[in-house]
Amino acid sequence: MYVILDTDPGIDDACAIAAALNEPSLHLLLLSAVGGNVSVENTAKNALRLVEFFGKEVPVAKGCSHPLMQEPRHTAVHGETGMSGYDFPQIRGSFVEEHAVIAMWKAIMQAPEAVTLVAVGPLTNVALLFRMYPEVLTHLDRLVLMGGSDDRGNMTPYAEFNIYVDPEAAQVVFDTCEKHDLPVVLCGLNMTRQAVLTTGDFKDIDQLGRAGHMLASLFSFFYKASQTVGENLDSGARIHDLTTIAYLVHPEYFETKQASVMVDTTMGPARGATVINYRKPKNVTVCQSLDNEKVKVWLKDLLRRIES
Ligand code: RIB
Ligand code: CA
Repeated sequence: MYVILDTDPGIDDACAIAAALNEPSLHLLLLSAVGGNVSVENTAKNALRLVEFFGKEVPVAKGCSHPLMQEPRHTAVHGETGMSGYDFPQIRGSFVEEHAVIAMWKAIMQAPEAVTLVAVGPLTNVALLFRMYPEVLTHLDRLVLMGGSDDRGNMTPYAEFNIYVDPEAAQVVFDTCEKHDLPVVLCGLNMTRQAVLTTGDFKDIDQLGRAGHMLASLFSFFYKASQTVGENLDSGARIHDLTTIAYLVHPEYFETKQASVMVDTTMGPARGATVINYRKPKNVTVCQSLDNEKVKVWLKDLLRRIES
């Protein structure tokens, strides 16, 4: 399966990137960075740090720094760099020269078969890709994204961070996918809140070689930092973005329902909400729940294989 991952690392992104880089059934064509958790300067560097940490040859492209219609909004729970908690070596390589949107277009059009596009940050890059290069839509087999919720948000009572940061981009993406009947898989907070790694899991993962120690160090930072915001958990941390990669590899671990989705782009109190309509089922598969224990077994086995 050919994959492009658009991301704003971000500690939960880092886990998704680690899985995408090392899962044998996935062929990661490109990592495209977008401004989100932290600035795009930092998200791009973090993506490159992870590619080099795992010794892979995946290109990294730097994308949009700003949402389409408003100023950037960052979050503190990933630390100042976006991947605090582990001291990565100095970056040796460089980003691809083109802007991420152009790099995404080229990678999709040159791929030998339809590409799965995964997005785990604000959807600014993806919206511009669809507007600038609509021909990519016939070369994608689906879009799998972490964002939104069919119940409560985490930035406001109604809006989840990735959508909240750029509601206009999200509306462009959902509307374009619906018009082109491109399947979308939505990993929203209603499901990703169940994707918890406990502090006990951190200890297990810390024993799984260099990669496990790096991720466990990041998770520990994320857990402590999350204690200061509303999404805090006593038991551990929610690894939201990992669920998109787990879905690619093990869709059977998820319960889903079909829906249509719109985004509230008004300036009112619900700005950035995903309006998920199960009574008008269209191209969006909305995840309802996941078998978190099986996802954890899959992640730990993957990390063990890296070190073997
Ligand atoms: O709401 C959770 C999402 O926002 C995750 O993708 C996290 O990395 C942040 O980007
Ligand atoms: Ca993210």
